[in-house]
Amino acid sequence: MTFSNTAILGLQWGDEGKGKIVNYLASNFGAACRYQGGHNAGHTLIVDGKKIVLHLLPSSICHKDSLSLIGKGVVISYEALFSEIEEISNFTSGITDRLKISPACVLIQPYHQLIDLYKEKSNSQKTIGTTLRGIGPAYEDKVARRAIRVIDTLNENHLKPLLEETLDFYNFTIEKFFGKEALSLNRLIDENLAYGEKIKPMLADVSMLIKKINSEEKSVLFEGAQGALLDVDQGTYPFVTSSNCSPSGIAAGAGCGPLDVGNILGVVKAYVTRVGEGPMPTEINDELGEYIAKTGGEIGATTGRPRRCGWFDAVLMKRIIQTNSISGLCLTKIDVLDGLEEIKVCKAYDNESIDSIFGECMNLEDINPIYDFLPGWESPTKNITKYEELPNEAKDFVSYIEENCEVPVKIISTGPDDQSTIVR
Ligand code: IMP
Repeated sequence: MTFSNTAILGLQWGDEGKGKIVNYLASNFGAACRYQGGHNAGHTLIVDGKKIVLHLLPSSICHKDSLSLIGKGVVISYEALFSEIEEISNFTSGITDRLKISPACVLIQPYHQLIDLYKEKSNSQKTIGTTLRGIGPAYEDKVARRAIRVIDTLNENHLKPLLEETLDFYNFTIEKFFGKEALSLNRLIDENLAYGEKIKPMLADVSMLIKKINSEEKSVLFEGAQGALLDVDQGTYPFVTSSNCSPSGIAAGAGCGPLDVGNILGVVKAYVTRVGEGPMPTEINDELGEYIAKTGGEIGATTGRPRRCGWFDAVLMKRIIQTNSISGLCLTKIDVLDGLEEIKVCKAYDNESIDSIFGECMNLEDINPIYDFLPGWESPTKNITKYEELPNEAKDFVSYIEENCEVPVKIISTGPDDQSTIVR
């Protein structure tokens, strides 16, 4: 079977199960490529029965016949990258041979993580509920054109003046605004140069590698992090992450042309979850929400924070699908709803006037969802691998999503391991 370049990305608020789907499909592709976000992501896969949580490495990393690419849109913490490589090397060998990283990636520096922390803990600044990984401040530097990129850490004469100027700016903020201790320039220079030496063998022209892979009649799988509702332009601003996690980020972040992406599959959970602050119209604020969280293991893979749970929101999903060229859905965690008597799906919002403009500015405050009530299924869906074997009510749930979101459900995940997957 041949595939065109395909993107797998979340359409909700992250944690939809993208890692499992990318790992499942990776052997059909020449490479998988992360193109945005950083180690704020937490992609969980089961490989040979072992649970692996990836933050920065593409979810193809255990596939020895595929490359794993990190495109220029990703922000990299050197410390996080190398500790993840070390950890994942316990599960698979040869990581550094098949991991290719763009030298244009912006680096997350220790001052970014401090600023993220100080802002989030400060009483005078808006709290977003970030992962405290320094993601926002690093992307701020990128657009402010003062970022230190991987390439800058390959040459001392080049790095020194850059870091000096940037650290002057940050130390002023750290000391004068937040009243904390300034960072040492020399230490930062030494650390960056040491990491620069270490990353050198993995650096590659990722844009041209994608072209090369395609010229060898192999395709690339683009792996999104977070989800479209956290996209800085499309999501519930300001409660969003700082990158384009919707398809709009692929070309810029991977370094390919927009028409190089042939197929975009959106990953959605059978319910919704959110970590951190921000509106979620279908949130379930009672024991049922707690039950779903417990059954679905809804604890942040990166921060360990509990995820808020809610019903599937077909209004939001239809909007995101329509405006993001989504060609099909991967529906995950349907088994988490096993045993529920009734399943709600949001089919409309009661504020008619918001319909035309709410999506453009994604204002989800004070919205009252209107629900359809679907019957639950008596027999479990867990680990089912054939569509025909799903209970009728589960098939009706899938059809409901297809009809209301106007897109086919192509993959259904019925459990965390690869085998528990239905491909239609
Ligand atoms: P940041 O990306 O750390 O700046 O966090 C901004 C918002 O995005 C916060 O609400 C985070 O909880 C959320 N977020 C960031 N990464 C993820 C993720 O991988 N899954 C789910 N939520 C995320």
